Amino acid sequence: MSLRLNISGVRKSYNGKPVLNACSFSFDRNGVYVLTGSNGSGKSTLLRICALIESPDNGEVIYFSGNNIISKDILLRRRITLVLPGIGLFNTTVFNNAAYGLKIRGGKNKETERKVNNALKFVGLIHKKNHNALTLSSGEIQRLGIARAMAIEPEMLFLDEPTASIDNENTEIVENIILNMKKEGRSKTIIATHDMLQAGRLGDCMLLMDEGKIIKV
Ligand SMILES: Nc1ncnc2c1ncn2[C@@H]1O[C@H](COP(=O)(O)OP(=O)(O)OP(=O)(O)O)[C@@H](O)[C@H]1O
Ligand SMILES: [Mg+2]
Repeated sequence: MSLRLNISGVRKSYNGKPVLNACSFSFDRNGVYVLTGSNGSGKSTLLRICALIESPDNGEVIYFSGNNIISKDILLRRRITLVLPGIGLFNTTVFNNAAYGLKIRGGKNKETERKVNNALKFVGLIHKKNHNALTLSSGEIQRLGIARAMAIEPEMLFLDEPTASIDNENTEIVENIILNMKKEGRSKTIIATHDMLQAGRLGDCMLLMDEGKIIKV
């Protein structure tokens, strides 16, 4: 049963300043949702709250499978993931970095290897699997972050500024990765981006953060 997310009346303030203000939305359909909005409008905050990294001050963040509410336990957390613009790298191979999410989830070795190799192929980094991750370019690092997330086959994938500070060539590669994931149609991807043209290229559903709320555009 596909995972759905409903947020309602979500409020979040930092140091007394409201960032999310009774923000509500239902992520019901598989595909790509693109969230745009000015700097500081709360996009990253919203992604962290949706990905269960942070809790709202008020309001509800509810995951459903069909019509059943799913408790926010480790099993649910294994089905969702957030990729941040500067992913943390470990001083080891590209393969080990991409395998990290699966290893902490206790994946079996053979299965882990298959999934990680597939994810590295998907993002065009398989030829670098034995290289030290610290030698990658910023575009490749961004792709490695996506591979690490894809290896766990998330049903809900949150990408925060996936092409921030990478060149046109790598932006195109990352966009193609996202479009290819979309073709597979198995997951929901929620992307925060400043780039309106990119939003148009990738999104099935366009969302705008405005005054602490999501507006569908
Ligand atoms: N952990 C935090 N502590 C204090 N203030 C925070 C924290 N996280 C976010 N903020 C503040 O909340 C507001 C919204 O920040 P957020 O990062 O969610 O916006 P954004 O839309 O992602 O911005 P950008 O486009 O620059 O990435 C900003 O004013 C930011 O300074
Ligand atoms: Mg942000």
